[in-house]
Amino acid sequence: MSQFKGKVVFITGAAQRLGKELAIAFAQEGATIAAHYNTAHKEAHALKQLLEKKTKIELFQYDLSNPKGIPGLVRRVTQKFKKIDILIHNASVFYETKFSNVTQKDWDFILNTNLKSAFFLTQAVTRRMKNGKIIFITDASGPKTRGNYLPYWISKSGLETFSETLAKVLMPHIQVNCIAPGPIGFKEDLKRFRKDITVSPQALCEAALYVAAPGTHLTGHTLLLDAGRRFVQ
Ligand SMILES: NC(=O)c1ccc[n+]([C@@H]2O[C@H](COP(=O)([O-])OP(=O)(O)OC[C@H]3O[C@@H](n4cnc5c(N)ncnc54)[C@H](OP(=O)(O)O)[C@@H]3O)[C@@H](O)[C@H]2O)c1
Repeated sequence: MSQFKGKVVFITGAAQRLGKELAIAFAQEGATIAAHYNTAHKEAHALKQLLEKKTKIELFQYDLSNPKGIPGLVRRVTQKFKKIDILIHNASVFYETKFSNVTQKDWDFILNTNLKSAFFLTQAVTRRMKNGKIIFITDASGPKTRGNYLPYWISKSGLETFSETLAKVLMPHIQVNCIAPGPIGFKEDLKRFRKDITVSPQALCEAALYVAAPGTHLTGHTLLLDAGRRFVQ
């Protein structure tokens, strides 16, 4: 299949886990992959080796906790591939931060990586984008799990608000949506989750392919993909 042939997909946090699966899924559909990573140098190079047999791929290292250099990151991608058709902001930092212990350093690190970088990345990408798709990966977990991860939740809620509002700003040629997974069934995490309401990385990739497809006219939506887990936790 080649529904994304000729399209350049820029995926953040693409070296491992969901980002890697997304890169593979879009490459299988013929897309050129601009794969961002931060610390997973070895995994990023392994992904490049795997995918360059199928398609064009280049790696772009950048620490998104420092949003200042984002225009330069986007310049590097467009110098290499001339354009970006689809941006998937998947990179995210997630760790426990009890409300009473949250420091300004935690706040800046989490909000800069998950939200501020997404904002300025989208701004830089859409300055050069005529027609395209923006997808933010958020999170569908229910309110009960949120208390000890406040800065993370604020960042993901911020992305959903940003996405819905931006869809109006950029319509009709650029469509903006979120995909909100419940717990993802990676092998290393499965023992922590109830298997029957865990979402497979493949299901998320299929959703991303659908949302990013040229003929999909969805915009300003958050697609909740959690097999109903938010109702039972
Ligand atoms: N896993 C789940 O069960 C689950 C559930 C709900 C929602 N989600 C969301 O789904 C997405 C993918 O989940 P995941 O578990 O695959 O994510 P993950 O492994 O926790 O993180 C994805 C990538 O984010 C990158 N990243 C972290 N800090 C960064 C920074 N300062 N600068 C640049 N990149 C940075 C990392 O890149 P490097 O490895 O190169 O450093 C990492 O590989 C995330 O947005 C997550 O919030 C996940």
